[in-house]
Amino acid sequence: MKRTWWKEGVVYQIYPRSFKDSNGDGIGDLRGILEKVDYIASLGVDIVWLNPIYESPNKDNGYDISDYENIMREFGSLDDFDELLAAFHARGIRLVMDLVVNHSSNEHPWFTESRSSRESPKRDYYIWKPGRNGGPPNRWEACFGGSAWEYDPGTGEYYLHLFTPEQPELNWENPEMRHAVYAMMRRWFERGVDGFRMDVITLLSKDPSYRDLEPGEGMFAPTAPYIYGPRLHEFIREMRREAIDGFDAMTVGEAPGTTIENAVELVGEDRGELDMAFQFELMGVDYVAGDKWKQRPIDLVEFKTIIERWQVGMFGKAWNSNFLMNHDQPRSVSRFGDDRRYRVQSAKALLALDLSLCGTPYVYQGEEIGMTNVAFPSIEEYRDIETLNYYRRAVEGGAAPERALASIHYMSRDNSRTPMQWDASRNAGFSGARPWIGLNPNYPELNVERAEADEDSVLHFLRRMIRFRKDHLCLVYGDFELIARDDPALFAYFRDDGSERLLVAINMSSGEARLPADIADARSLTRLALLLSSAPRGAGRPADALMPWEARVYKVG
Ligand code: GLC
Ligand code: CA
Repeated sequence: MKRTWWKEGVVYQIYPRSFKDSNGDGIGDLRGILEKVDYIASLGVDIVWLNPIYESPNKDNGYDISDYENIMREFGSLDDFDELLAAFHARGIRLVMDLVVNHSSNEHPWFTESRSSRESPKRDYYIWKPGRNGGPPNRWEACFGGSAWEYDPGTGEYYLHLFTPEQPELNWENPEMRHAVYAMMRRWFERGVDGFRMDVITLLSKDPSYRDLEPGEGMFAPTAPYIYGPRLHEFIREMRREAIDGFDAMTVGEAPGTTIENAVELVGEDRGELDMAFQFELMGVDYVAGDKWKQRPIDLVEFKTIIERWQVGMFGKAWNSNFLMNHDQPRSVSRFGDDRRYRVQSAKALLALDLSLCGTPYVYQGEEIGMTNVAFPSIEEYRDIETLNYYRRAVEGGAAPERALASIHYMSRDNSRTPMQWDASRNAGFSGARPWIGLNPNYPELNVERAEADEDSVLHFLRRMIRFRKDHLCLVYGDFELIARDDPALFAYFRDDGSERLLVAINMSSGEARLPADIADARSLTRLALLLSSAPRGAGRPADALMPWEARVYKVG
């Protein structure tokens, strides 16, 4: 595959609201990020993705944008933005913005005009329909609960919102609206940004039938009538032509409903659409029947098989983006690792996994120090609209509040949104004031300052792993061959790019794991050179057995 910076780069995702507060109002901001630019550079990452920083009433923390061309007042100004961008560029780091154009805020002037009358010239910027039998136009549901249609008494029609009612869907059938979006994108590129992460990009085109879902068809099923709709590829190609070509940009689509087959169409190397996409198959590994609030234990064999399917299925055709968490997911170490006894070891193992797969690796703020899920004792402490809606519906539906809360402790998006833990001082060094959302009470022990001081910390391991990946392009471009498929503890694979062959072996358990017998026999072991281990320095390390959550990389040959 062709070599490019966004394939070889490591991405660091920042959730600005929770990263660093510079002015003591309890809310993270751009100048806070600016204070930490050297820290970010010290990780060795090449690209930073910022969650939305545009003007927003914050019904969904910035995913409801009321002005695409200005910075949210709480986060700072365009001058702050320019300074931050320059600071990243001066350190060789590229900046990728979030692009949220499936919907806007209901406070965007486009929507205000659109809802003002049926004759408004902007009426068609959004999706309006008359009701059906005294109810909404169809039975589509919103992602955060309730009908996806909201009645507007002023004009007597319903508008579509697949998320909250404050996030009306933009109508991509309208060319004027589309071109306004492209012009906006070009202005950000001209300002110097290096790419976009495109929010729920697979939802842009709605099937004109507006048919109801079939029984059992999940909201984000690949077949749902608003997923990979009939004009999606046309819209993306147009966007590419009108807004992206000519800039040295990276694009990553957030792509619910993506299978290998449709991923290859959206991000195939020669398709002229997007560079890569986030797909969520792995994130469903602990759901019951597609429901994130009903959880089951993770089966490592299934976990490995999903990763293998994407590694092998995309190879040579399209580029993967690899992540184990983001701002919508629980903390990776609490979900896939062991956040108690083996917190440090398992956080390292997971980073070793993320950074040793084919595709671009994403690391989310706090993952580099192994931050964990939080378990607020009361629903009052939660902030996320999805969590709050779930709790209300569950309890109204008769669920025991403790049960609903237990599910929230495991899965809530707020797990990843508690403030970044910088040091052991008041408010974890995040802010001089009480933060907008509570801190994880483990910050006095678990913070960046401590991790910096400990050679065996997750943080130092991430730096080492990033350097290792850069020194071994085989990890970026090589093919992937899973071994020991049925081993319930070991995750092991070969990576091979024709000039180098590596064996990655990760113990994904709190017990022992052994290399497969054929690899561990004396003759084969002599052909393996251990290049990297995540175990603490000085730990006595048997040749064929891995310590709990240890990750190793061997050179084969
Ligand atoms: C994406 C975002 C999520 C947001 C939703 C609606 O999934 O990652 O945070 O709530 O889109 O914009
Ligand atoms: Ca602030």
